[in-house]
Amino acid sequence: MMSNTIPEITLNDGLTVPTIGFGTAALMGNDGAHAIKSAIDVGYRLIDSAYNYENEGAVGKAVKLSSVQREKLFITSKLPGRYHTYDKAVPTIQESLYRADLDYYDLYLIHWPNPIQDDYVEAWQALIDAKKWGLVRSIGVCNFLPEHLERLKKETGVLPSINQIELHPFFNQKEQRKWHEKNNVATESWSPIGRANEVLQNEDIQKIADHHNKTVAQIILRWHVQLGAIPIPKSASPQRQLENISIFDFSLNETEMNTINALSRPDGRNKNQDPAVYEEF
Ligand SMILES: NC(=O)c1ccc[n+]([C@@H]2O[C@H](COP(=O)([O-])OP(=O)(O)OC[C@H]3O[C@@H](n4cnc5c(N)ncnc54)[C@H](OP(=O)(O)O)[C@@H]3O)[C@@H](O)[C@H]2O)c1
Repeated sequence: MMSNTIPEITLNDGLTVPTIGFGTAALMGNDGAHAIKSAIDVGYRLIDSAYNYENEGAVGKAVKLSSVQREKLFITSKLPGRYHTYDKAVPTIQESLYRADLDYYDLYLIHWPNPIQDDYVEAWQALIDAKKWGLVRSIGVCNFLPEHLERLKKETGVLPSINQIELHPFFNQKEQRKWHEKNNVATESWSPIGRANEVLQNEDIQKIADHHNKTVAQIILRWHVQLGAIPIPKSASPQRQLENISIFDFSLNETEMNTINALSRPDGRNKNQDPAVYEEF
């Protein structure tokens, strides 16, 4: 298989990560393990997963099936909302490792802040300790608003390396990205191609795609990288996995970037999951 070289960026804790990764939601069992192995074969090194995707086992199996060394991969999982208290969070992280049969995760994230439940600072303390004990190399969060991040900073003195947030052309998170940049937190984009919604039929992006002889998905993923965000597209298909990663041989000019930036709208979230009120367990 052809191998793709992906540029890397450095996180606030000194670790380096690829500028594009692979999403694995819904990739489970034997088919899932082989789809994830295929993604590693085509060149992905950053693999996203979560306790709640029930596929940490498939990720671990893919690592074993692949001929790429474990140390060359950057494997992520996430802590579910129901295990935010310190005493639950620590064994949950350990169980995540057992399921994947890994000695460490490269990145472990709090999956949602669940601000009404209000235990996310305790969860964060568990992640800080898990890093000290060597269970995880880097710690971060998902779906944290600036107010949640400010609170972590104030109460623990430690900011996440990464905040993984919903980000696609219809919801480009300009203000949140500005906060991240100012505070040296990397932005990772979930549902980067809008979960294949109508954005893939957008005529403005199609024109840009025609001009570059690329697909709409490739234009959108390139747009993420040029925003400084790390997209993690999911695909079960080896062809689309390769398509999505083949974005480092062209670039978008300012006008093209602005055309895509202009598609964002305040109600552009896919499923209206506003982390100020939406909670997931
Ligand atoms: N932290 C969080 O709260 C959170 C929330 C949601 C997602 N995530 C993570 O983010 C990852 C990505 O987000 P997502 O899975 O929601 O959405 P996504 O990556 O934006 O879209 C995935 C969908 O697009 C299709 N697709 C992929 N490449 C394509 C291409 N080149 N052309 C046309 N269709 C294409 C896939 O179908 P095929 O598989 O058939 O190719 C799948 O239906 C997830 O897998 C998960 O790891 C995190």
